Amino acid sequence: MPAIKLTRRYRFSSSHRLHSPALSEDENRRVYGKCNNPYGHGHDYLLEVTVEGEPDPVTGRMFPLALLDALVGRVVLEPMDRRDLNAEIDEFASLVPTTENLAAAVARRIADAWPHFLPGAAARLDKIRIHETKNNIFQIRATDPAVRPPAVEAEQRQRVTK
Ligand code: NI
Repeated sequence: MPAIKLTRRYRFSSSHRLHSPALSEDENRRVYGKCNNPYGHGHDYLLEVTVEGEPDPVTGRMFPLALLDALVGRVVLEPMDRRDLNAEIDEFASLVPTTENLAAAVARRIADAWPHFLPGAAARLDKIRIHETKNNIFQIRATDPAVRPPAVEAEQRQRVTK
């Protein structure tokens, strides 16, 4: 069976302010420029979720896309769309919501929810990309230790082989 990569797109809009408590007011303005504006600003994010797997020999599909939609809806779109990332998303209580950090948080949320929404699916999360603007696109692979710490993976492998 061929290995297929499928990418599905989702859109959400959130506001954020880039400001690090570890930096002075001046340093924050220098590092983040207009993104340090105390009143925040918004982005229309385009999220791409890439899944890799093999099509089922009978159905010719990897898994029902509706399950991926339900997963992304639950852990990303519902909590983040039309929200203030700094104030409303736990990960950003103590982490600057740059799109670098947002990409890692989104990938982690999807990876964590995967076994609950797609149990036994012959497909795995490959990577996610977030388009912040037309020109800024951020990508993180599912194997990144920030998404799935090696210890957790080893533990999951053990469980599977038991
Ligand atoms: Ni911004």
